[in-house]
Amino acid sequence: MSPLILSAAGAALVLDATGPGLPRVRHFGADLGPATGADLTPALASLTAAPPLLPAQGDSWYGRPGLSGGRDGEHWPVRWTLDRFDADATPGQGGTVTVVASDARAGLELVSELAMDAGGLVTMRHTLTNTAAAPYRLEGLVCALPVPARAGELLDFTGRWALEKVPQRTAFGYGVWSRENRRGRTGHDGTGLLVAGTPGFGFRGGEVWGVHAGWSGNHLHYAERLAEGPALLAAGELLEPGEIVLGEGESYRTPLVYFTWSGGGLDAASTRLHDHLRAARPLGVRPVTLNNWEATYFDHGLDRLLELADRAAAAGIERFVLDDGWFRHRRDDRAGLGDWYVDEGVWPDGLNPLAEHVRKLGMQFGLWFEPEMVNPDSDLLRAHPDWVLGQAERMPPPQRNQQVLDLARPEAYDYLLERLDSLVSEYALDYIKWDHNRDIAEPVHDGVPGVHAQTLAAYRLLDELRARHPELEIESCSSGGARVDYGVLARTDRVWTSDCNDALDRQAIQRWTGLLVPPERMGSHVGAPQDHSTGRSLPLAFRAATALFGHMGVEWDLTSASQAELEELAEWIALHKRLRPTLHAGRVVRADHPDPSALLHGVVLPERGVFAFVQLTSRVAMGPAPLRLPGLDPAATYEVRVAGPKPRAAGLPEWTSGPVRLSGAVLGELGLPAPVLRAESALVFEVERV
Ligand code: GLA
Repeated sequence: MSPLILSAAGAALVLDATGPGLPRVRHFGADLGPATGADLTPALASLTAAPPLLPAQGDSWYGRPGLSGGRDGEHWPVRWTLDRFDADATPGQGGTVTVVASDARAGLELVSELAMDAGGLVTMRHTLTNTAAAPYRLEGLVCALPVPARAGELLDFTGRWALEKVPQRTAFGYGVWSRENRRGRTGHDGTGLLVAGTPGFGFRGGEVWGVHAGWSGNHLHYAERLAEGPALLAAGELLEPGEIVLGEGESYRTPLVYFTWSGGGLDAASTRLHDHLRAARPLGVRPVTLNNWEATYFDHGLDRLLELADRAAAAGIERFVLDDGWFRHRRDDRAGLGDWYVDEGVWPDGLNPLAEHVRKLGMQFGLWFEPEMVNPDSDLLRAHPDWVLGQAERMPPPQRNQQVLDLARPEAYDYLLERLDSLVSEYALDYIKWDHNRDIAEPVHDGVPGVHAQTLAAYRLLDELRARHPELEIESCSSGGARVDYGVLARTDRVWTSDCNDALDRQAIQRWTGLLVPPERMGSHVGAPQDHSTGRSLPLAFRAATALFGHMGVEWDLTSASQAELEELAEWIALHKRLRPTLHAGRVVRADHPDPSALLHGVVLPERGVFAFVQLTSRVAMGPAPLRLPGLDPAATYEVRVAGPKPRAAGLPEWTSGPVRLSGAVLGELGLPAPVLRAESALVFEVERV
């Protein structure tokens, strides 16, 4: 059998099942032209041995094994025999491969599924079954793909509450660079994507390979290079000792792991991910949202909320979301989580007076929940102390005064499903903001580590609720952006990107979160004039130009805004509505702008595009560098014009005063003369093919 080539959208993956054991990926990178698998044989023979789908010592891989585990009283290294190799591939269209392998002596069977979609994105997952009588203790099972020697640099991300997705770069040397998460949620510091690339790669240049684990529990991403030469990227669930013990005939399935490649920088790698998510869960343009959290916090006085709703509707907002504080005993963050009944004291007539008012104003109505959480000071925990994920006789350390419910306990799960289901029905909720505000410490379910079961139960709960309410939309929030991954995005409609609404920090947070998350799924709100998390004061134009490039919303007490501010906000919201067919469907492009004090980014469709030039801090150079617009068709002519209110600027070039026409080649190579902007301001402009 000659090697199999999967190819699509300029990418190719070569899977070689000619040797004994598991197939090896011999190439994941650029398309190989018209070559067939048989044509590749002379080239493959000369390659350093690539690791098989599950690297192991028996295949000369002396690095981290792809599978680890064992049985008490016996150690038997696994050496796979290939039982089946089923492929369904069309050149240029991607395809799917299923590999079945076993080791009868070790008592294990492996099914590996690999697919390349029409956009060239590769997904992989393994299912491991114990075929022997003795229990098999699984310690780890990851999906890995090799990267070539020229991938000499790594990019990954860390972060904290209110400052997610901070990039860090390092040389890809020998050894392991491993990002491990034991927080029970994806984490503010979760890398999201781990990227290897040719040194100096940027958004528009260099060759890059990226890996992402679609999983919201404990997980790991790592890059490894061996002294022998080969290197790989891998990702999977991080399992604690004893978390997965497979009885005879039982299986463990890894999360879906995503691999993306680009020959032209991060943007193209990111586009493959966006396209995949958009195809899997298509969404139309997103309604502009108001969330009351930073406007009123726990103050749920009805009059104030009604006035907020009036002002929101007048500004053009289309969805009103009532955040934390509406349920029993929840007057602050010390009590009430778990008691998912409308608080009779604060809401004597239920939520209807607000919900009906909101609907009369033509807006949708949404509600905040934190289903997995419980306060010790709640009726729920007083009645069911044993529902805590942990050991009831020694509670895990609290965080934000709360504990985690053990969702893998059927009674706890059923209670939550019943509460969520009835409230969605009672108030015909259009939207749920689903929060998860703590890391999970000391999770114990039935005497074993509990994050795996917890994550699956949370997914089940989301799936069941959606099945019962197909029109319901759900936002994944976790103290801001601590649950942003393709596991949760497969079953939710957007993420809350960060609790930081400071537009300056947001520019960076959105830029990097946006590698994985397309704009229409990235919540971005216009915050208060003085930001609540950083204390920084920023002009409305800058806050709005930043929120414009996502699923736009407002999180600001509009009852305290001036008439002028309300009018300006309405203008930005109208602009967002006009531009969102592009912003919520187009390809995200980010220029490698030479001046580190500024950013240039945009979203483009074949017919049109929207860009922003953002001056973050003060420039060093007196004159700003030209704006070379990425992502346009060099052969097309575009009309360029400013969109929305012009920023305060020391100098605006002539083209900003009226539409100009230029070719995509000129816009991309020569670029537009840049405006001389003050720090903390942005110029939004659009291009249209003529
Ligand atoms: C978290 C969320 C916020 C808000 C609060 C409510 O911090 O990230 O947006 O919902 O909880 O308590």
